[in-house]
Amino acid sequence: MPVHVRGLAKTYGAVRAVQGVDFTVAPGTTVTLLGPSGCGKTTTLRCIAGLEVPTAGRITVGDRVVYDDAEGIFVEPERRNIGMVFQSYAIWPHMTVGGNVGFPLKISGRPKAEVEERTRAILQLVGLGDLHDRPAAALSGGQQQRVALARALVHEPQVVLFDEPLSNLDANLRERMRTELQLLQARLGFTAIFVTHDQQEALSLSDRIIVMNRGRLEQEGTPQDVFQNPATAFTARFLGYANVFAGEVADIADAGKVRIDLGDGVLLAARWRASEPARKGERGTIAFRADRVAVEPRGTVPPGDNVIAGDIEAAAFLGTFIDYTIHAGPLQIKAEGPVDKPFVRGDAVQIRISPAQCHAFRAADAA
Ligand SMILES: Nc1ncnc2c1ncn2[C@@H]1O[C@H](COP(=O)(O)OP(=O)(O)OP(=O)(O)O)[C@@H](O)[C@H]1O
Ligand SMILES: [Mg+2]
Repeated sequence: MPVHVRGLAKTYGAVRAVQGVDFTVAPGTTVTLLGPSGCGKTTTLRCIAGLEVPTAGRITVGDRVVYDDAEGIFVEPERRNIGMVFQSYAIWPHMTVGGNVGFPLKISGRPKAEVEERTRAILQLVGLGDLHDRPAAALSGGQQQRVALARALVHEPQVVLFDEPLSNLDANLRERMRTELQLLQARLGFTAIFVTHDQQEALSLSDRIIVMNRGRLEQEGTPQDVFQNPATAFTARFLGYANVFAGEVADIADAGKVRIDLGDGVLLAARWRASEPARKGERGTIAFRADRVAVEPRGTVPPGDNVIAGDIEAAAFLGTFIDYTIHAGPLQIKAEGPVDKPFVRGDAVQIRISPAQCHAFRAADAA
C-alpha cells in the first residue's frame, strides 16, 4: 500500500518541527528518514500514525485520505491500520510475551481463539516461538524489541512505522535485526517508513533515503545515489564525508567542473553540484570521502591535478584499514589506507583524490 505525504507541516508554538514535507513511499518498499536530532523525523512519523494532528498538509494511505487540513479530514490512529515500533520498546512488563503481542487484537474484540492463533504465528515469525508464556519483563533487550515488533505486526498492518527501533541494541544484534526486518518485510509485504540517524542503517535497509534538515527534505534518492552524489554539503557531512573544506571558485571548466582554491596555493578540481552554474570568485565548499584519498610516499606521484604534498600527523589502526590524519598546507585531511603498507606519524606523503570523487557546493548550501 503506498503512502503519500504532501505539504506536511507541524508547528509546536514557535517551533516549526516540520515545514512542508513531500514524499511518496511505494507499496512494499522501505523509505528511511535520515537526519540529525531535532530535524523532525519523529514528528513526521507521528503525523502519519495519527498520534499528532499536523498543522497543514495531506496524508494518504493507499487510496484513503487519513489527513487533509483543507478538507478537515483526520482519521483516528486506531483506524489507520498502521503499525508502529519505537526506540523504547514500550511493552507492558506485567503481561506475558503472548499477552503483549495479542493485546491489539484483544482490544479490537477478536475471538480468543483467533487472538491466540495469530499471536503464536507472529511470535514464531520473529523467533520468539518458545517464549509465549514468559513474563515480558524477564527478557533481554533484543527479545523485548522483537516483542514490540511482533505486537506492531500482529494485526497485519499494511504500513509499519519504525522510529529508531534498533538503537538500543548492541552492534551485532542490530545487524542481525536489520537482516531479519528485511526478511519479514519480504514475507509480509508491508510498506515501511524507517527513522534513524545512523547512516549505515539507512544505507542497508532502504529502497530510498530522505535526508532531513531542520524540518525540510534536503535530498531524496536511492542509497547509492544519496551516498555517491550528495547534493549539498549538509548531506555529504551527514553521510560521513570526513573532508569538508571551505574555499573559493578559482576557475570553471565546462560540464560542471570547477577548481576550488583552498588557500596557500592548494587547488582541488571537483564536480560542481549546485543546480545553478558556478561563478568565478564565489565561496564554495568541497567534500570528499576519506576512503577516496590515495596516500603514497612523497615523490612517487608526478605533480598534477589533485595531488597534494602532506605529512602524516596521526595514524590509527582500525582493523581493516588505517585511519590517517594528514597535514597538507592549510588542510587537515582524513584518509584511509590499507593495513599492509602503513605510514607512521611524520612520514612525508602525497595524497591524490580523483576529481570525480570531489564534490563542490555553493557556500550557501553549507549552512
Ligand atoms: N510536543 C512537542 N512540543 C514542542 N516541541 C516539540 C514537541 N515534539 C517535538 N518538538 C520539537 O520539534 C522538533 C523536531 O522534533 P522531532 O522529535 O521530530 O525530532 P527528531 O528528528 O525525531 O529528533 P531525534 O533524532 O532527537 O529523535 C524539535 O525541535 C523538538 O524539540
Ligand atoms: Mg526522534
